[in-house]
Amino acid sequence: MSTWAVLVAAGRGERLGEDRPKAFVRLGGLPLLAEPLRRLDESDWIESVVVVVPPEWEEPAILLAEELGASKVSACVTGGVSRTDSVRAGVAEVADDAAVILVHDAARPILPEAVLARLLAALGEGFDGAIPGLPIVDTVKRVRAGLVQETVSRDELMRVQTPQAFVAPVFRDALTRLSVESTQTATDCAALVEAAGGLIKVVEGDERLLKVTTRADLDRVAGWL
Ligand code: C5P
Repeated sequence: MSTWAVLVAAGRGERLGEDRPKAFVRLGGLPLLAEPLRRLDESDWIESVVVVVPPEWEEPAILLAEELGASKVSACVTGGVSRTDSVRAGVAEVADDAAVILVHDAARPILPEAVLARLLAALGEGFDGAIPGLPIVDTVKRVRAGLVQETVSRDELMRVQTPQAFVAPVFRDALTRLSVESTQTATDCAALVEAAGGLIKVVEGDERLLKVTTRADLDRVAGWL
């Protein structure tokens, strides 16, 4: 199976309060983007990588890939306003004959190889897509204007992460069929394939796939490098 990775790094990451996009904030002496990029590049499961960055950060991304010797990087392209826009820009660079498209958030720098293996095994079983998920341990409530509306049963709820892997033609078809407007608020790619009627398998996620949002997250991830 030829698997292409789309590494989305085009978010602004304003909650970190830095003067640069989140993907270029320092983590262990290098831009945060370096860690997921190196891991994808070194993975035996991945054939090629497309990196999606904010406008004017294409050149630094190319230089970073060169510095890392990340030879699988086939393109560094400009992302869009929404995450889905950025995914679309990346998928447009994926080779027509790719069998699997794997989308990963650069904001989740630690990417355990075992998760990739679980995702691709699920696709081998015939699912349209596979995503990592973890159970929710806290009690979940629906809240409006600070007032509890109801307590939601957490039995069937999971928090899901990236990377997310999809059968390439199924994923492309979902992106083509769904209107750009209807996908603007999607927070992950599985939602797009779900909306197009695809069957998504959840495999075991990993706590280290933490999405860096705050300075405390960055410190935590730095401790795992
Ligand atoms: O904003 P959020 O935390 O959901 O972003 C998840 C991932 O999607 C991040 O890696 C971010 O860089 C990426 N993203 C993007 N283009 C956007 C918004 C987010 O590539 N317009």
